[in-house]
Amino acid sequence: MMTEEKLGKLLEDMSLQEKIDQMLQTAGSFYLSVSREALLGNITAFGIPQADMDEAGSILGTDDAKSLIDIQKRQMAKQPHHIPMLFMMDVIHGMRTIFPMPLAQAATFDPELAEKCASVSAGEAYVSGLHVAFSPMADLVRDPRWGRVMESFGEDPYLASLMCAGVVRGFQGEDMGESGKICACVKHFAGYGGAEGGRDYNTVQLSHPTLFDFYLRAYRAGIAAGAGMVMTSFNTIDDKPATTNEWLMRHVLREQMSFNGVLISDFGAIKETVAHGTSEDEKDAARQALTAGVDIDMMTGCYAANLAELVKEGKVSEKLIDEAVMRILRLKNKLGLFENPFRGADPEKEAKLQLTPENRALAEKQAEESFVLLKNNGILPLGAGPQKIAFIGPYCDNRNMISSWAVTGRADDTVTIREAAEKAFEKGAELRFEYGVPTLGKDQNYKGFEERNEADRIFADVEKNPQKHMDAAVKLASWADTVVLCIGEHYLQSGEATSRTDITLPKRQKELLSRVTEVNKNVVVVLFSGRPLVIRDIAENPAVQAILEVWMPGTEGGSAIVNVLTGKAEPGGRVPMSFPYCIGQIPVYYNHFSTGRPAEGHEEERFFSEYRDAPNDPLYEFGFGLTYSDFEVSEEKLSGTELTENGTITALAKVRNIGSREGTAVVQLYIQDVVGSQARPVKELKGFRRVTLAPGEEKEICFAVDEPMLRFYDGEGNFRSEAGEFRAFIGLSSRVKKSAAFRLIR
Ligand code: BGC
Repeated sequence: MMTEEKLGKLLEDMSLQEKIDQMLQTAGSFYLSVSREALLGNITAFGIPQADMDEAGSILGTDDAKSLIDIQKRQMAKQPHHIPMLFMMDVIHGMRTIFPMPLAQAATFDPELAEKCASVSAGEAYVSGLHVAFSPMADLVRDPRWGRVMESFGEDPYLASLMCAGVVRGFQGEDMGESGKICACVKHFAGYGGAEGGRDYNTVQLSHPTLFDFYLRAYRAGIAAGAGMVMTSFNTIDDKPATTNEWLMRHVLREQMSFNGVLISDFGAIKETVAHGTSEDEKDAARQALTAGVDIDMMTGCYAANLAELVKEGKVSEKLIDEAVMRILRLKNKLGLFENPFRGADPEKEAKLQLTPENRALAEKQAEESFVLLKNNGILPLGAGPQKIAFIGPYCDNRNMISSWAVTGRADDTVTIREAAEKAFEKGAELRFEYGVPTLGKDQNYKGFEERNEADRIFADVEKNPQKHMDAAVKLASWADTVVLCIGEHYLQSGEATSRTDITLPKRQKELLSRVTEVNKNVVVVLFSGRPLVIRDIAENPAVQAILEVWMPGTEGGSAIVNVLTGKAEPGGRVPMSFPYCIGQIPVYYNHFSTGRPAEGHEEERFFSEYRDAPNDPLYEFGFGLTYSDFEVSEEKLSGTELTENGTITALAKVRNIGSREGTAVVQLYIQDVVGSQARPVKELKGFRRVTLAPGEEKEICFAVDEPMLRFYDGEGNFRSEAGEFRAFIGLSSRVKKSAAFRLIR
């Protein structure tokens, strides 16, 4: 490792432009082409001169050891001080072994498992030569129309904070310089999940108390866990783009959150401030972003082309550039790049250490824990022995279940439901398979997704002979004892730039559901989605006996689904983001304020805060999820009714397995701050435990409640509690009603 002094000397020795180029990030693909014409063609499109490309400090988007070694060698030879490049990549929910999408990971209510999975991803990324993962995404979400909810940890700041910190620790370990570890980048700072109307990149309007108390918490947790990098967001905060928002970056991020790592812009975000109408031109954008404290300009030439001139004109101080470059050099140093610029990059290890049976097993376990059983009239788990099962629907034998953000993964590695089912069911069970309809159908326009053609080649015959396949599906449904209907969103319908206004099942699948349920009354729906969909029609269909939400489950999706269907594994997930009752309810989330006219208790009256044509509550609330067993939670008890500043009281309840098989309950503690100097949520998650109980077994679950747990952020970012009345709720979802009261006294 270089000393701080040595790094300082290196900085002193660098020319101004050389320093500025450390702050430039472009795409790895630009460097892979040996043809100068091809290279220039690409670069010109981004307006970045070749000389700056030669000295650029980092690249994104290249992910294999061979290419990265090659690029590093060539670039270091050109860089005047032979400074190694940083290689960054979107390792969102897995490198080669793809774990369930992040929202599904949140559904596990198991941050420790998420940490293990991130650690596996780090190990796989390390041998490919990567240094930074653009993950985790800590954006709080309340609007499932936004396609990026799939990358989030849902609507609850506490759960999201634990998940975010877990993932950061998983990537970085104790020391990101260690073998098998890489740097995490918490994104998108800040409030990106608040996009109005759920439309991606749209305006965000958040009051400061809501920003601090809800939206900033998970980023803060990731930063407190030591994340080496933070990425800015595309949206506005206080009507200024986050990327050039000095208050947000210097005051909140750097001062209040004590972040001293590297701040990178999101893709093109500095230049986009021109389109926002808050920068005159690229030069002005560069000035504002540097002033706000952005260290790396991702994918634009704003910094490279303008910062030197801005220094000469006295419009920005070279000191700001020095500070930014020092942060970048420190990160390179922490990762050990000055000693070994290639770090873990090793094509042989890549082949050996990625997608190992152990990694696959972990992905399978996390997938099982993430599946949420939303409905079950006793049909699941499917019994053993002779039976006729029809697997119908576009996902019955489909590898495209790793999500649009699994950019380093390969659909080809995925186990399909069919493959897993054919292995799992005993002799005597007759299994048949039929797509019936494609996931989306060529008739449904899906702008800008060329990958779709490749992914949907499995539906070629279905597209050619739609009637034949629909008829075959209906025939199979009439033949079967049980139908497992494998349906849901196309994997390209969620992720970045996939906002939707109608978040119901694709049209042709609705038709399939209706035809199949006409002829078979034992239908299990296995639902794939990147977001909570509006599924009231499915839930209310009397032929649908069970609904298993499986999200985008990753490489071992098929095996995990079959394990859960057969009862080899339990569906372990709980709802991490409300499933709306209808689209018009959005945003709907459990931790809302009471309002001056709360509807509860006044449902039959007018002039209360409620819809006239729909309930206020979502269809499936945060924290909800069935298991193959049943649990009873006793009346809750508190060890005292007065909590002092340094004291603790214990909230406890007995949880009993009243079902006939072993099962895992997710016991949740919620607290309500009854009176505050600012409006406080009707309840907030403050603790949870996954408890596995044998049939008839009972356990006492205790949560320690102390003063720091009762603190909240005000609009200035102060974190404090207020004396007065609180209520504690212990239950199995956010709908828990019974509570016990206590007071915080000073
Ligand atoms: C996304 C980021 C991502 C970046 C680099 C952007 O479009 O918003 O989440 O990390 O691209 O791929």
